[in-house]
Amino acid sequence: MEEKIGKILLCREEIQKRVAELGEEITRDYKGKNLLVVAILKGAVPFMADLIREIKTPLKYDFMAVSSYGASTHSSGVVRIMKDLERSVEDVHILIVEDIIDTGLTLKYLKENLVARNPLSIKVATLLDKPDRRKADVVPEYNGFTIPDEFVVGYGLDFDEQYRNLPYVGILKPEAYLSEG
Ligand code: PRP
Ligand code: MN
Ligand code: MG
Repeated sequence: MEEKIGKILLCREEIQKRVAELGEEITRDYKGKNLLVVAILKGAVPFMADLIREIKTPLKYDFMAVSSYGASTHSSGVVRIMKDLERSVEDVHILIVEDIIDTGLTLKYLKENLVARNPLSIKVATLLDKPDRRKADVVPEYNGFTIPDEFVVGYGLDFDEQYRNLPYVGILKPEAYLSEG
């Protein structure tokens, strides 16, 4: 697995430090508020698991899973909910947690969908922001790192469902995705 990583973009320690900073900021912003963290399956799981333990104010968390129609790319922007929240959100402040914002189409859909349910507020926390490929106008309130347009995997990010368990974010060697195996 690791022989397919060309370069480590963000090491474990860098991620840990930044996640702690984001947690502190979020703690300040949500003190005394009813916070619901909504993690988007599956990529957001490692980030979310670390982030919530750096948020020192009461919260609840839930998950959503979405999938784009048709091809495996997000180019259409047409998204379908595969797993939804368990409760209504009228009495909560929603913090959507993502591993990466790429085109922004997933998040644009999710935000519109959640706004329609009338939560008290909606903000977004992402570990990575890749603004070069943005197609939808979404800006995260909390961003771990802005990264260049490279094929990144690890810490939740996958290529063909693999590499999610790497404790760092690495750049995949082209040979790993140009030829299978
Ligand atoms: C990835 C990533 C974001 C989304 C970002 O998820 O985790 O959710 O794509 O892309 P976008 O900004 O271009 O919409 P993916 O659909 O690959 O599912 P996964 O989280 O299960 O890997
Ligand atoms: Mn995802
Ligand atoms: Mg993926």
